Amino acid sequence: MVGVQGAGKTTWVAEHLQRTHAVVSKDHWPNARRREARQRRVLDELLREGRDVVVDNTNASPRERASIIEVARRHGARLRAVFLDVPLDVCLERNAARTGRARVPTVGVLDAWKRLVPPTAEEGFDRVDVIRMDAVRAALSG
Ligand SMILES: Nc1ncnc2c1ncn2[C@@H]1O[C@H](COP(=O)(O)OP(=O)(O)OP(=O)(O)O)[C@@H](O)[C@H]1O
Ligand SMILES: [Mg+2]
Repeated sequence: MVGVQGAGKTTWVAEHLQRTHAVVSKDHWPNARRREARQRRVLDELLREGRDVVVDNTNASPRERASIIEVARRHGARLRAVFLDVPLDVCLERNAARTGRARVPTVGVLDAWKRLVPPTAEEGFDRVDVIRMDAVRAALSG
């Protein structure tokens, strides 16, 4: 998954992938140290077991995605990027509407937005899907 906080990644995963895929996310262990290394290890183990896996983080930049791509390639897995291409103002609104731990500081959303580079086949993805909310917007603006 690729998309800033509030873009709707976890919601999309719940709707489309949760029944068939193991979900890996650094959000699952918010207080652990070396979350990056831990995620790599978990991903590696799941792929070794032959599972289909979805990585539900912002994965905003090519650098962040490279480590996932490397592990997946090592297992000969097919790689799909699902990019939730949602405008910043919408992400900020949705984040602000969340409560408790789910809500992240605005600066975190802005940071991810600055790092955000749409995923491409050149990075190593076999398939890139872009999910836009144009249809929803059009309906709302009547
Ligand atoms: N398609 C949508 N239309 C309207 N609201 C949505 C949509 N998808 C998600 N939301 C709402 O937006 C908020 C953020 O969604 P979600 O938690 O899935 O984002 P996220 O990308 O996983 O964020 P984070 O990176 O912080 O985990 C939630 O309150 C969710 O209900
Ligand atoms: Mg999420």
